[in-house]
Amino acid sequence: MARKSLLYTLFTTLTLALSSSIPQTDYDVIVVGGGPSGLSALSSLARVRRRTAMFDSGEYRNAPTREMHDVIGNDGTPPAQFRALARTQISKYDTATIIDNKISSISPLTDPNNTTYFQATTTNGTTYTSRKIILGTGLIDLIPDVPGLREAWGQGIWWCPWCDGWEHRDEPLGILGSLPDVVGSVLETHTLYSDIIAFTNGTATPANQLSLASKYPNWEKQLAAWDVRVDNRSIVAIDRLQNGNDHRDNVTDQQFDVFRVRFEDGDSVVRNTFITNYPTAQRSTLPEELGTAMLEEKVDTTDYSGMRTSVPGVFAIGDCNSDGSTNVPHAMFSGKRAGVFVHVEMSREESNAAISKRDFSRRALERQTERAVGDEMEMLWKRVLEMRK
Ligand SMILES: Cc1cc2nc3c(=O)[nH]c(=O)nc-3n(C[C@H](O)[C@H](O)[C@H](O)COP(=O)(O)OP(=O)(O)OC[C@H]3O[C@@H](n4cnc5c(N)ncnc54)[C@H](O)[C@@H]3O)c2cc1C
Ligand SMILES: *[C@@H]1O[C@H](CO)[C@@H](O)[C@H](O)[C@H]1NC(C)=O
Ligand SMILES: *[C@@H]1O[C@H](CO)[C@@H](O)[C@H](O)[C@H]1NC(C)=O
Ligand SMILES: *[C@@H]1O[C@H](CO)[C@@H](O)[C@H](O)[C@H]1NC(C)=O
Ligand SMILES: *[C@@H]1O[C@H](CO)[C@@H](O)[C@H](O)[C@H]1NC(C)=O
Ligand SMILES: *[C@@H]1O[C@H](CO)[C@@H](O)[C@H](O)[C@H]1NC(C)=O
Ligand SMILES: *[C@@H]1O[C@H](CO)[C@@H](O)[C@H](O)[C@H]1NC(C)=O
Repeated sequence: MARKSLLYTLFTTLTLALSSSIPQTDYDVIVVGGGPSGLSALSSLARVRRRTAMFDSGEYRNAPTREMHDVIGNDGTPPAQFRALARTQISKYDTATIIDNKISSISPLTDPNNTTYFQATTTNGTTYTSRKIILGTGLIDLIPDVPGLREAWGQGIWWCPWCDGWEHRDEPLGILGSLPDVVGSVLETHTLYSDIIAFTNGTATPANQLSLASKYPNWEKQLAAWDVRVDNRSIVAIDRLQNGNDHRDNVTDQQFDVFRVRFEDGDSVVRNTFITNYPTAQRSTLPEELGTAMLEEKVDTTDYSGMRTSVPGVFAIGDCNSDGSTNVPHAMFSGKRAGVFVHVEMSREESNAAISKRDFSRRALERQTERAVGDEMEMLWKRVLEMRK
C-alpha cells in the first residue's frame, strides 16, 4: 500500500515538474504562410512529431504566373498544383494542421513562470497559442499603376529571367524600370535576347546617370556592346496584342505574347516580352508588429543562425527574410532549415526541463522514501507495542 501511493505521488510530481518549464500551448509551432517556405517548414516539423499549425491567407507571390521554372523536378508545374501536392503529402502527418485563415495579430505572452509563448489571432477572432513562430509571409511586388501592366504581370511581363526568360527566348525584349537598374537587367538577360530596348520612362536623369556610373563607370559602352537602346519617353499604357496562353509551343516551351508600349507623345513600340525592375515590400505587417529588426525592407536573419530573427522564438523564411534570395528553391531551403532549428531549440528546452525534472524527482524521491520508511517503521513499532499488550 505504501509503495503504491509512493509511486503515485512520484508520478504526479514528475508530471507537474515537466509542465513547469515548458509553456502549455495549443501547438508547438505556428507557421504563418502557405507558400513553398511555410509548406517546407510544416513538413519538416510534422515529420519529427511537432504539433504545427500552418496558417494560409491564400495570397501567393507567384499566383499570376503561368508555370514555375527552375525548381528541379517541378520545371513547368503551375504553382497551385505544386502547393496542392505538398498539402496532400503533408496531410498524412497527424501533427500537421493547415488552417486557411489570415492571422491578424500575434502577441508574445508569458506564463506564470515567465516563459514566453505566443498567441495568434485570426481575422475571425479565434486564438491559437504556440511556443514558436515561423513567418513565411512573403513579399508583394510594387507594380506601377499604368494601364495594362498589372494585368500582364507574370504573363509575358516578368522580373526574374530564371522564372520566365527561357519561355520567351530570342524574342524582342523590353526592360521596364528605373535607369540605374538597366545594366543589371542586361547582364542577366543578354544570353537569352539580342534585341533589347530599355524603356526608362523619364528616369534617365543626370542624377540617375551618376548613380548608374558609380556602379558601372562604362555603362554606356556596355549598353552599346549589347546593342541596347534607351528609350526615355514617358509611358502612358501597355496594351496586350497577343496572349502567350493561347500562342505557345508546348514542344519547344515557347510563349508568344505581344505588347504595345504607348508613350505620352502618341507614339508606340511593339515588344514581345519585358523584364522589370520594380521594388518589393513585405506582404504582412506581422514582422513589424512583432518588432523584428529589419534590413531595408526585409526581416533581418543575417546575424542570427537558423533563420532566427532578432525576436527570440520568432523565425523568418522565404522571400520575407534578408537572405537576398527570392525564389522557390530558397523558400524551400529556408523553411526546411528553420524547421530543423526550431525543433532542436524546443528539444533543448525540453532537455533542460527533463534535467530539472530529474533533479526535482530525486529530491522528491528522497523525501518520499524517508516518509514511507518512517510510516512503515511507525506501523511496525505500533504492531510491536500491540503484541506486547
Ligand atoms: C510572377 C512571379 C513568377 C515567379 N516565378 C517563379 C519561378 O518560376 N520559379 C521560382 O523559383 N520563383 C518564382 N517566383 C518567386 C516565388 O514566387 C517566391 O520566391 C516564392 O513564392 C516565395 O515563397 P514564400 O513562401 O516566401 O512566399 P509566398 O509564396 O508569397 O507565400 C506567402 C504566404 O504567406 C501567406 N500570408 C501572408 N500574410 C499572412 C497572414 N497574416 N496570415 C496568414 N497567411 C499569410 C500568404 O497567403 C501565402 O500563403 C515568382 C514570383 C513572381 C512574382
Ligand atoms: C512554475 O514552475 C514551478 C516550479 O518549477 C511549478 O511548480 C509550477 O507548476 C509552474 N507553473 C506553471 C503554470 O507552469
Ligand atoms: C516574473 O517576472 C516578473 C517581472 O520581471 C517578476 O516580478 C516575477 O517575480 C517573475 N515571476 C517568476 C515566477 O519568476
Ligand atoms: C474561425 O475559423 C476557424 C477555421 O478557420 C473555425 O474553426 C472557427 O470556428 C471560426 N471561429 C469563429 C468565431 O467563427
Ligand atoms: C512612369 O513614370 C511616371 C511618373 O513618375 C509614373 O507615374 C509611372 O508609374 C511610370 N510608369 C512606369 C511603367 O514605370
Ligand atoms: C529623360 O526624361 C526626363 C524626364 O522627362 C528628363 O528630365 C531627362 O533629361 C531625360 N533624359 C534624357 C537622356 O533625355
Ligand atoms: C500547352 O500547355 C498548356 C499548359 O499545360 C495548356 O493549357 C495548353 O492547352 C497547351 N497548348 C497546346 C496547344 O497543347
